[in-house]
Amino acid sequence: MSPRSDPEFFDAMFRADPDPWRFDTAWYEIRKRTLLTAMLPAPRYHHALEPGCANGHLTQALAQRCDRVTATDIAPHALELARARCRDLPHVTQHRWAFGAPWQWTDPFDLVVLSEVAYYQPAPALTTTITDMRTHLDPGTTVLAAHWRHTEPDHHLDGDRAHHIIRTTLPHHHVAHYRDDDVVIDVLTTR
Ligand SMILES: C[S@@+](CC[C@H](N)C(=O)[O-])C[C@H]1O[C@@H](n2cnc3c(N)ncnc32)[C@H](O)[C@@H]1O
Repeated sequence: MSPRSDPEFFDAMFRADPDPWRFDTAWYEIRKRTLLTAMLPAPRYHHALEPGCANGHLTQALAQRCDRVTATDIAPHALELARARCRDLPHVTQHRWAFGAPWQWTDPFDLVVLSEVAYYQPAPALTTTITDMRTHLDPGTTVLAAHWRHTEPDHHLDGDRAHHIIRTTLPHHHVAHYRDDDVVIDVLTTR
């Protein structure tokens, strides 16, 4: 397998298995969601953007802390699953949008969560994506990034490299950093 960025690859994955990363049961995923939500500095946010929402597990957790959550994915079947999972959460909306596609949001966000999504772009594309994102975020926006650190055949980057690009491309105040053998998490606020 080679690194992937195409929607067809991810859509086929969700059609073959509605929970391809075992978000329900994998200790890595359960623990990461707990760490990630505990590292958010504010108790509540007005409006979060979550690119790469998959089938909506993290979306559900963010919905407990946010007045609105805009969750996006490139895989249509993932969005169907996320809609079903979040059907009782009217303040959560799902949209087909690729992180890296032209910014289409008019309402501001005070939280952007990049969890396990940045490494699906090659380094130059991720730099361009973050450069574009910074022009659309107000100063003081919290950006939380969380990524698996190991090399995977379908990833363009490992987590450390993705975080290096995010930290060096986005002007920010560094709020928090966590790293163990498996996961790296950075919390930044935009300048
Ligand atoms: C590992 S899941 C991450 C799920 C969730 N964010 C979490 O951390 O629990 C990766 C998801 O990213 C989606 N994806 C990959 N590239 C994307 C992109 N450029 N924009 C939006 N979604 C993308 C895939 O379809 C997949 O659903």
